[in-house]
This record gives sequence, structure tokens and C-alpha cells, in this order.
Amino acid sequence: MPVRIVIGAQWGDEGKGKVVDLLSKDAHYVVRYQGGANAGHTLKFDDTTIVLHLIPSGMFNGNSKCVIGNGVVIDPISLVNEIEEVESLGVNLENRLFISSAAHVILPYHKVLDKVKEKSRGSDAIGTTGRGIGPAYVSKVSRVGIRICDLLDKSSLNEKIKKNLNDINQALVNVYGEEPIDADEMIAELEPAIETVKPYISNTTKIMHDALQKGESILLEGAQGSLLDVDHGTYPFVTSSSPTAGGACTGSGIPPMAITHAMGITKAYCTRVGNGPFPTELNDDAGEKLRKNGQEFGATTGRPRRCGWLDLVALNYAIRLSGMNELTLTKLDVLDDFDEIKICTSYELDGETTDAFPIETDKVARVKPVYKPFEGWKTTTKNFSSFEELPGKTQEYISFIEEYTGVRFNIISTGPKRNETIIR
Ligand code: GDP
Ligand code: IMO
Ligand code: MG
Repeated sequence: MPVRIVIGAQWGDEGKGKVVDLLSKDAHYVVRYQGGANAGHTLKFDDTTIVLHLIPSGMFNGNSKCVIGNGVVIDPISLVNEIEEVESLGVNLENRLFISSAAHVILPYHKVLDKVKEKSRGSDAIGTTGRGIGPAYVSKVSRVGIRICDLLDKSSLNEKIKKNLNDINQALVNVYGEEPIDADEMIAELEPAIETVKPYISNTTKIMHDALQKGESILLEGAQGSLLDVDHGTYPFVTSSSPTAGGACTGSGIPPMAITHAMGITKAYCTRVGNGPFPTELNDDAGEKLRKNGQEFGATTGRPRRCGWLDLVALNYAIRLSGMNELTLTKLDVLDDFDEIKICTSYELDGETTDAFPIETDKVARVKPVYKPFEGWKTTTKNFSSFEELPGKTQEYISFIEEYTGVRFNIISTGPKRNETIIR
């Protein structure tokens, strides 16, 4: 049975939520493996629109069990809001939602630190989502993090939180000139959320291992995107986790040899939210039109997304990082009324042409994209059920990407809803 990772092949918001919802129909398990409530995954079906931040996108199409893996950082208050929202749509989460005991907890102090650190960076700010992600992973890696299993022992939890707050309050007051956080008030605020979360706490690593042994199908849902990966992205303008395939293994307990498919999700153009280099960014009418046609505003923060043409240098890099052996193309319809569409096929860097994505972020900021122009198809691509029915010029555009990357589009998405999809 397939063990498939769905990975953002760009800077996030590629439409992973739509694709996971679609594929979850045939999955025994849908698993989030990294990130936290910085993610915003939009699902549209019937008359419902829901944006999920922590709960996997497998709750609404079939009966898959949903796992929040050990690699995720969980804000209990945000999770409880989401549990309530999902339940209000008639989904019973009992025996459907499993939260790893080993996942780390985002506490209110992580969110405060995220905000004050961003403020102190001034013009060098990363443009984080403010959800406490970076500081929570810092706590984890520096071995002072609170794990989900720690929520089960109240007195030791209180002790750990108070110990951490001693250090954090010193930094807040002495470095950032902020008010200290009151430990007892913070703990009291958390208690109702902890009670709601408790019944879902599980040994999800064992659940995964048992599922593998039984040959059940597993869908691993990446958050963010390959170019925001803390190791391989445009550092320091990245998130603090590993959205690429390696992160799916460490963040779930599933061994690399068990992975059968790595599916990259790419839009038919590019977007990025937050700061950092973006070679094909368009600060002109075409960029404005992509934003307007694609409704490119952040699902988590509402910020306008930066828009630009598809970048095959960056896409090829993402494909190689995760060994993507299948691709999904999303938001093809957004290009429907363009006279001309461009694709970046190489970069010019310091007088040389290259098809390698630079490791040094200042070089990514300096590259000049080399474009191949395509004539627009100027007609709707919605409501087709096969690739062959698409306009010839659209087929040319898609085939060019497949030939360049050597990877086939198994799914082509032409609208936000489940039925606006071509499955090949
Ligand atoms: P994710 O973070 O990767 O799950 O993506 P987001 O949900 O943040 O952003 C994708 C947006 O595009 C959402 O508003 C989706 O409803 C929408 N969307 C997904 N696929 C398509 C598509 O093929 N066409 C259009 N027009 N919108 C799409
Ligand atoms: P989904 O899963 C797009 C970006 C932020 C910022 C950087 C670091 O919906 O695709 P963080 O809060 O993680 O410390 O912010 O990463 N970012 C995303 N951009 N989609 C996301 O998630 C993102 N999650 C974080 O804008 O530039
Ligand atoms: Mg998103």
C-alpha cells in the first residue's frame, strides 16, 4: 500500500490542503509531520470552506485516521479552537485524531518571543507568521521543550514551565524591554485546553509502525514548502522545520525505506509570503493580476502573497531534494486570461548562466531569471476531466514543465473544489 508524502515544491501555499483532502479518500492514515499553526491548508467541498492549521486535511473525505506526528509543534489553544471547528461540521474526532506524546508544545511565551524577536530585527525581519514556531523549535533543540506527554503530569509541568519562564522573563525584560509573563496566569489559561487535548494523546510512532506492518496506506501531509526548509531553503528566510522528504521520516517515525511516493505540489506560477529572495517575483501589472486572479492572500495571516512566474530552477531543486516521483500542478486556471505567460528556465549569475539553485541567499537575491515565453490560451481550463481535452496551448505549457523536470503531473487542479481536478 502506498506511503506517500505530499510536499510543497515552492514557498508554501501550493494547494497541499486541497490535494491531501482529495487523496485522503483512499488513505488509512493522514499524518502531519512538521511545522505548526503557521500552516494554513484550505479545503473546499460542497458549500464548505475550512482552513486547517494543525489538524491533518484528512477529516472530511472518507474515514482516514488523522495523526499529528512527533515533528509538529502544537499550540494547545489553537488546536482546541480547530477541534471545535471541525466538530461543528459534524465530524466526530473520537478514534479519528491521534496526537503524538512526543510532539513539542508551543506555549504563550513562544508566541511573545516570536513577535519581540521579529520586532527587534527591524528591516531584517523574516516576516514570520507570529505563531511561535521558531522559538518552540529552539526550545526543542536546546532540550528545554515541553512535550505533549508532559501535559499529563500537572505538578511537573508547572515546575518545568516556571523554570523556563525564569530565563525567558529575564530576556523579555532585560533584552527586549517587555513586561514579564506571569507563570500562574499562563498555566491557568492553558488548563482547559490541556483537558480537551488529553484524550487524543497517543504513541503515534507505534500506530505508524503497526500500520506499516499491516500494509495500510499512509499519506504524509507536509506544511510550508521546500524552499522554506531550514536546511535547504533561502536561509535565514525560512521556517524552523524540514518540510522536505527527510522531515517526513523524522517527524513521524516512518523509516525512509517505507516511503513509496513523494508527490511535489506546485502552482502554475510562484508565490511567497514573508521576506526573502524570490527570483521571478513580479512587481508589475502581471504580478498584480496573478494576485487578483489567484486570490493570493495568506490563509493564516491574510497577508498579500508576493507573486511571480513559475521558476523551474527552483522547482527542479525541490524535486531533487525530496526525490519527487510525481507532481501535482495547481491553480492552472489562474493563468487562463493572460496574453503571455513566462517560465524561468535558468538564472544568470555574475555573468554566467546556471540551472543550479544557489545555496547562498545573497546569490539567490542577485540572480536574473532567464525566461521562455508562452502564448496564453485565453480560455477557461475549468470543468475538463482529462488532459487531452485541455486547450492545445495549455497542454504545451504543461508538457514543457514535465519535459524539463522529467516528472509527470498525476493531478492537475483547475479550481479550489474537489471536482475541479484532472486525475491522470
Ligand atoms: P496550502 O497551504 O498548500 O494548503 O495552500 P493554501 O490553502 O494556503 O492556499 C491555496 C489556495 O488556493 C486556497 O485558497 C485554495 O482553496 C486555492 N486553490 C487550490 N487549488 C486551486 C486551483 O487549482 N485553482 C484555484 N483557483 N484555487 C485553488
Ligand atoms: P502552508 O503550510 C507559506 C513563511 C512565513 C515566513 C517564514 C517563517 O500553509 O504552506 P514561521 O512562522 O514559520 O517562522 O515563518 O515562513 N511561512 C509560510 N509561507 N505557507 C506556509 O504554510 C507558511 N508557513 C510559514 O511567511 O516567511
Ligand atoms: Mg497555506
